[in-house]
Amino acid sequence: MNSESIAQIRDEAAASLVPERQQQWEQFLTPMPVAEQAVGLFTESDEPQRILDLGSGSGILGAVTAKRFSAGGSVLAIERDAALARASETSLRQVCDDVMVLNDSVSDVALEPRFSRVILNPPYKKIAPTVIAMDSGDVKVTNLYTAFLVIAIQALAAGGECVAIIPRSWMNGDYFKDFRKWMLRECSLDAMVVYGSRQEHFKDMGILQEIMLLKVSKRAQVKKVTVFPDASPATPLERQSQEMVALRALSMGRDRILRIQRQDARLAGFKTMADEGLWVSTGKLVWFRNRDVLSDDEVVGGHPLYWADNQDGLRMEHPVECDRAQWVTGAADNRHVVLPAGGYCMVNRFSAKEQRHRIYASYLNSDVDFVVDNKLNYVHQGTSRKTIPLDDAVARGLTLWLSSSIVDEWYRQVSGSTQVNATDLRQMPCPSKQQLAVLAGMLSVNDAPDQSLVDETIGGLFEWAKAS
Ligand SMILES: C[S@@+](CC[C@H](N)C(=O)[O-])C[C@H]1O[C@@H](n2cnc3c(N)ncnc32)[C@H](O)[C@@H]1O
Repeated sequence: MNSESIAQIRDEAAASLVPERQQQWEQFLTPMPVAEQAVGLFTESDEPQRILDLGSGSGILGAVTAKRFSAGGSVLAIERDAALARASETSLRQVCDDVMVLNDSVSDVALEPRFSRVILNPPYKKIAPTVIAMDSGDVKVTNLYTAFLVIAIQALAAGGECVAIIPRSWMNGDYFKDFRKWMLRECSLDAMVVYGSRQEHFKDMGILQEIMLLKVSKRAQVKKVTVFPDASPATPLERQSQEMVALRALSMGRDRILRIQRQDARLAGFKTMADEGLWVSTGKLVWFRNRDVLSDDEVVGGHPLYWADNQDGLRMEHPVECDRAQWVTGAADNRHVVLPAGGYCMVNRFSAKEQRHRIYASYLNSDVDFVVDNKLNYVHQGTSRKTIPLDDAVARGLTLWLSSSIVDEWYRQVSGSTQVNATDLRQMPCPSKQQLAVLAGMLSVNDAPDQSLVDETIGGLFEWAKAS
């Protein structure tokens, strides 16, 4: 049987999914072009392979893998849904004689580390943080896809390879930190294929996350990681732009945040925001838990309240006409939400997909103590426990820096999500406070400069930062 009929079995299985179960078990079946691209990442071999497919659905991934390698291999597929397990059996029997399909949960099957090729497109659901204990050390997982990946990697024989179709979210942020560190210790990161647009693949499945292919292997870290930073499933990978980059050039800081491209050389001379003594915190007021202190009018003993609605280009405005209360009463004082007067750079935690820049930063200098809604991050020079305002010029210079196109590009390479989180911002390359203050003197945030002027001024900074 050819890939067309494997694809047919997949399409028929996709058409007969039961909606509630599809949601519950995340049955988003891989289309053939993505399956072929994923399997294409495995190293060629004349040896028969021991193949494992976790959460096999219609069996498409295991079957395309088995078809790629010589006869005499075996496939073990594990699928929780009985109807899909039967579809897996049908697909796999077309291409392999030694097939075993277990209609079971992946977490209930004990797997020996004996597989040479492991492939998976796991469910992507969030789960309560769970610690998986292993000989190589415990690892905390916060999502089913990383739990499946841990099981997949544990099942690899020495030299074995694993290819996974997963979201991009594991590469950055705090939630996946433990998993990232564990995985980079446990195996070699060989290749990453990041799909540029979300809509193009999984078209019939309504998947909206940014998806990637990840290839890791059970051996020492390869010298260069192969990265396709903007791939499409429509064209063979060998015809798409790729880079070979040392892992060192992709991974940042102790949290091992991973980028999808080598950093722009112009940023190389800068330390991170955290190293420059700039700390990013999240606004402390969760409005729906503090409704009783919100006030539409200024009251004696109260404080101004800043929301994302108060961002007006490069500056914060207050008060503004909007449907959010612009003040809190003095009752907020004992709720640990009030910040000291002074200079800050505020960064929106969420950006709309259509927004040109992912990062939206605005300067604030408040001469009274104030409160920030938790949809905004604020940059100061204290710690996670103590907020210390910035010098005014530093706050203005930082706002310009964070509004530049080069910084936005940097952020996009780190995060595929529209959320802008504090952990990632702390790793961002940043000029020193003195340089930021000089930058503030070159361009005023109060004059609402347009993007090209901001970028031009930042461009000049690279020259004098190098010379200084
Ligand atoms: C995203 S789908 C992918 C299916 C298939 N691998 C593919 O690529 O088309 C995830 C599959 O995992 C199955 N699944 C979910 N939880 C599972 C579990 N705990 N154990 C085994 N299979 C599971 C679902 O029923 C579904 O078929």
